[in-house]
Amino acid sequence: MTSFEEKFPSQNWELLKELAKNAKSQLSGNQKTEIVDSISPMPFEMLRDNPRFDELKKIGEEILRKNGAAAFMVAGGQGSRLGFEGPKGAFKLKLPNGEKSIFQIHAERLLELKNKYGKNIPFAIMTSPLNHQETIEHFEANFYFGLNKETVRFFEQGTMCALKPNGEPIFENPEKLALVPDGNGGCFRALSKSKTLAWFKELGIKFVFLYGVDNVLAKPCDPAFLGAFADSGKAAASKVVKKKSPEEKMGVFALKNGLPTVIEYTELPQNRIKEFDGGNIVAHLFTIESLEKLENEPLPWHLAVKKICGVEGAFKFEQFLFDAFPKLGSMFLAGVEREKEFAPVKNASGEDSPQTAVDLLTST
Ligand code: UD1
Repeated sequence: MTSFEEKFPSQNWELLKELAKNAKSQLSGNQKTEIVDSISPMPFEMLRDNPRFDELKKIGEEILRKNGAAAFMVAGGQGSRLGFEGPKGAFKLKLPNGEKSIFQIHAERLLELKNKYGKNIPFAIMTSPLNHQETIEHFEANFYFGLNKETVRFFEQGTMCALKPNGEPIFENPEKLALVPDGNGGCFRALSKSKTLAWFKELGIKFVFLYGVDNVLAKPCDPAFLGAFADSGKAAASKVVKKKSPEEKMGVFALKNGLPTVIEYTELPQNRIKEFDGGNIVAHLFTIESLEKLENEPLPWHLAVKKICGVEGAFKFEQFLFDAFPKLGSMFLAGVEREKEFAPVKNASGEDSPQTAVDLLTST
């Protein structure tokens, strides 16, 4: 064992060594591309076109009236593309009637559901150690935007040490490793470790809507989606939109070796992008049993190469939450209209920026 391994026992150094080895061989082009031939697009139908739409919506409304659903937002990302220092949720959008933070927009949607169905929707927010305190302060300073504070819960996701291209750890300073969030797939581990899953169970929650902070048009616990999922008897569900173009930077729904999954845009073979048009908007539903199963289910690690602490070409390893889908085996997909349900804030300007999000928000 080297001295840093002893000094920083919080890290799983064996795993990091293995990941560094794989990363080097992946980058040198030695790794075999064994999955390429066994993927196909996963078919989906528009939720609105279901002849039982009204009935399904009623099922969902009944679940909300009985307090059977919770909202779980992943907001631990670094938002580096937006170029905003604080938590992405604290970023303010300039709307015609004044400014609103992204968190406020999301909180108000939950408030609307409360007003309609008479129950507070439990709201869990996953942060990272890099933005945890600021996220809580943003809610505190704004009186939780009218939500009942008792029904909002924050918890941190895990972190992983970033590595130099030679596999050695990166240090922020001699006493501190360069730790980065372990990807939104860390949410299942963190949900359980923080006892938030136990909290959901105590409250009698049966279904959890899992979504990303980026999409300001997200419809949390949408009754029709909820009802259709409950009716399907499947282990998980996702909303899906048609991609704007084959090149759009979205994960796509696919069957991989017969199992439902998402293939991230960074990993979809370039020569096959035209075949896959079902884009992932990070709007998922899980049963509580599925989340329990995922507590101890190891998910794969994905490599990202970035500049970290001044080190060019540094390795960062992340888990993706959609890798849970093949572990669960069965999945329900609901096609939705992208103009009504997808307005992501990702970049400072141009595509998927605060401006495009405001345009979409004000036109719906
Ligand atoms: C994500 C999806 C992609 C989808 C696109 C649509 C994943 C892995 N990818 O891509 O398939 O088409 O959104 O907009 O889901 N997050 C954390 N902790 C982390 C990293 C991310 O909580 O360590 C959160 C972010 O705060 C955000 C969400 O996960 O809410 C998506 O994260 P991001 O890494 O930005 O994914 P995209 O590349 O935008």
